[in-house]
Amino acid sequence: MPFDPAVIRASFAVVERRADHMAKYFYAHLFAGNPGVRAFFPAQMTEQRDRFFAALTQIVLRMENPEQLTGYLRALGRDHRKFQAAPEHYPAVGASLIAALRHFSGHSWTPEIEKAWTEAYTVIARTMTGAAAGVRPEVPAWWEAEVATRRRAAADIVVLTLMPMRPYPFVPGQYLTLSSPRVPKVWRPYSIANAPRSDGTLDVHVRRVPDGLLSTALVDDAAPGELLRLGPPLGDAVLDPHSRRPLLAVAAGTGWGQTRALLEQLAAGPADRDVTVVLAARSQAEQYDLPAVERLLARCARLRVLPTAPARGEGRADADAPVRDALARYGHWSGWDVHLSGPPGLAPSLTALLTELGADPALIRHDPAPVTFNRARPLTSSEWFLDQRDVPWINRTDLG
Ligand SMILES: Cc1cc2nc3c(=O)[nH]c(=O)nc-3n(C[C@H](O)[C@H](O)[C@H](O)COP(=O)(O)OP(=O)(O)OC[C@H]3O[C@@H](n4cnc5c(N)ncnc54)[C@H](O)[C@@H]3O)c2cc1C
Ligand code: HEM
Repeated sequence: MPFDPAVIRASFAVVERRADHMAKYFYAHLFAGNPGVRAFFPAQMTEQRDRFFAALTQIVLRMENPEQLTGYLRALGRDHRKFQAAPEHYPAVGASLIAALRHFSGHSWTPEIEKAWTEAYTVIARTMTGAAAGVRPEVPAWWEAEVATRRRAAADIVVLTLMPMRPYPFVPGQYLTLSSPRVPKVWRPYSIANAPRSDGTLDVHVRRVPDGLLSTALVDDAAPGELLRLGPPLGDAVLDPHSRRPLLAVAAGTGWGQTRALLEQLAAGPADRDVTVVLAARSQAEQYDLPAVERLLARCARLRVLPTAPARGEGRADADAPVRDALARYGHWSGWDVHLSGPPGLAPSLTALLTELGADPALIRHDPAPVTFNRARPLTSSEWFLDQRDVPWINRTDLG
């Protein structure tokens, strides 16, 4: 590696707590100096601001694992074709990143630090643009897909069946990113909720997030016949094709979609594995798609499904306890493959519990959590005490 990750880590620690301001500065700098680049980004960028700039910095901070990082960057570079990002845009982004870091570092900024960040950014940009350039020309940057049907599955959840206009190859367990002309240039990830079908359609299960830009448009307004855009399939929380181990899947909320895709894949093969699914909902009314569960149970003799939801009268913050009880009561998970799907926070919280219950962390798979700045990281014990959250995967977010 042409630069020292330790120099970068130390310099980032200086600015980390002002990440919000730094991201604003970065975008202002980028758009002021390159007005043409503004058009690539959505009109409203409050939440997204994080993902782009946070990723840049997080990537640099994770340089210790070059193999994993290269895989991530190559996928990100290929995925950036859908944003219409071209090699000539990368130097401007790099210059604004360095300008933002320099501005917020004050006197601690040195030529050595600037050199390290510049070299790191060069490696990142080269990896991303190289991967984008290597995509076969017949692979589109995005796929047009028509909304074939829209079914309300629970008060805030719809199941959209999409018909891509060109073949859309994917592996069960992967997710896609989706964009609607109703909120231009806004892309969000959604799990693909089925195994590949002969008619090429695919389902996504979408929960409406309060004030959510895309989820509101999809849940409230998306109508059959309208066109959406799909980014390339992403994610590697897929079944290990060589494994004959028993499988535990924990699906919370719309995380059921991803688990359903895995179960459909298993149901199409030999019934040679025990499968246990813990199906968690925030309330009994939100335990949706039960007919599909019944159909899978009828097809798979070795499938066991444990639905969990807080008892009537309990709040949705109590949804965590029955999941933990079910995991503790029903098994010792040593030697099991484990798949976790649900809101951000679910995986870290359950990985710790499952490891205590015998699961091997190397056999636990889940999607990556969205990258955000660790702006809430407490620096003192009083901050830690004041900032405690009881059920992180339910209270932290209204996602699904
Ligand atoms: C790998 C992956 C797979 C996903 N699969 C699904 C799926 O199958 N079904 C599904 O319904 N959703 C899924 N999501 C979530 C989805 O991508 C969107 O984040 C969600 O629909 C909200 O988008 P939005 O545009 O409506 O909200 P936004 O406009 O992005 O945000 C609206 C509000 O919600 C808050 N918010 C948004 N995201 C978060 C977050 N991560 N944590 C805390 N607060 C947040 C924002 O702060 C804001 O106040 C998945 C996410 C990931 C990373
Ligand atoms: C090394 C350079 C870059 C890195 C690490 C990077 C990283 C990211 C990441 C992680 C996201 C969020 C993706 C998601 O949530 O799915 C993103 C979004 C985006 N990126 Fe990049 N990016 C880089 C360069 C560029 C360049 C050069 C452009 C050119 C215009 C660009 C345009 C965009 C756009 C338009 C979005 C969507 C933003 C939004 O939805 O608000 N990126 N980028």
